[in-house]
Amino acid sequence: MTTTDLAHPALAPFDLADLRLRNRFAVAPMTRISATPDGTPTDQMAAYYREYAEGGFGLILTEGIYPDATHSQGYLNQPGLVTDEHVAGWRAVVDGVHAAGAPIVAQLMHAGAISQGNHYGFGTIGPSAVTPRGRMMADYGGVGGAWAAPAEMTEADIDDVIAGFAAAAVNAERAGFDGVEIHGANGYLLDQFLTDYTNQRTDEYGGSVANRIRLTARVLAAVRAAVGDLPVGVRLSQTKVNDFTYRWPGAEADARVIFGALTDATYLHIASEGRNFLETARLADGATITQLAREVSGRPVIANGGMHALPQAADVLTGGHADLLSVGTGALANPDLPRRVETGVPLTPFDREMLHPMANLDSTAAWRARR
Ligand SMILES: Cc1cc2nc3c(=O)[nH]c(=O)nc-3n(C[C@H](O)[C@H](O)[C@H](O)COP(=O)(O)O)c2cc1C
Repeated sequence: MTTTDLAHPALAPFDLADLRLRNRFAVAPMTRISATPDGTPTDQMAAYYREYAEGGFGLILTEGIYPDATHSQGYLNQPGLVTDEHVAGWRAVVDGVHAAGAPIVAQLMHAGAISQGNHYGFGTIGPSAVTPRGRMMADYGGVGGAWAAPAEMTEADIDDVIAGFAAAAVNAERAGFDGVEIHGANGYLLDQFLTDYTNQRTDEYGGSVANRIRLTARVLAAVRAAVGDLPVGVRLSQTKVNDFTYRWPGAEADARVIFGALTDATYLHIASEGRNFLETARLADGATITQLAREVSGRPVIANGGMHALPQAADVLTGGHADLLSVGTGALANPDLPRRVETGVPLTPFDREMLHPMANLDSTAAWRARR
């Protein structure tokens, strides 16, 4: 698509609750493990996020932020939203992004059983004592190979997790964020509850899909109650960082229960595995999972996965599959992606070396310096 064609549909503005977005391109949440050891955001992180705002993105979603100082942290040098220092660090990030004209939403993430780094010295917890599939990720500081089985969470542990999300959401509001996104996707704690093979509980949080989505719904309700009118989104996916093949076992029927439990969300953010969204996001009846999310929840939906492929991105919007698009690796390679689309400048392909040897901001800076 060039400027001589009709403008790309993602360049049209969108109202997300009371937030006016200048276009439909959002930066997808991306863990960059570049905070201080105690989880405080740095000046380098502020510059990183500001660059996306200057590059024209309509919305910025932060990396997954840990919400409590016990079990939630997933990676060393991951940022938190627990202490006053965390809030002050995020305030500087938020102010820079706002000055460059974009809203920014804090993604809150509890790693659960697949934590591979905890500054506070806590072990892992999960719905059931099931050893996670897959291996720790070396580029994110994972050293131990396989994960250990987590401790099965008690009801008190569950209440603590819910309270942690709510407290972190209050801190997000104090830091000036325009919203929060609850990370219910990709194999982390909330998704461990939703996933049949990691959740073997026999209480109200286990068994049926209605029970397995209950913790996410309760976190959403608690966050809503804590932050009032602040937009609160929920991110969901079928696949996981440690299992790329998983699909909700009840397919569309499960999806209807899951989306129906989250109608209080301001938006749903659906990540689909792989780069060919319009193929991998299809349900058996041919509708996409994001279309179904829109229909069942009645809320705006962000589609994710390969949206830097601009013709596909256009089809997703014009075909009614989603309202907004989040871009991950394409944004890493093109922090000015919306400006490029506006002016017809070709996109730079993503290079895995940007995230190697560590998926942090130093590796990306070194990659840029080599070019
Ligand atoms: C470096 C990196 C870190 C990521 N960290 C997160 C994260 O913290 N939270 C999250 O929900 N997804 C995370 N993701 C997944 C992305 O949000 C997105 O789903 C994935 O990159 C696919 O989209 P893409 O095809 O636009 O890259 C991460 C992806 C990358 C590349």
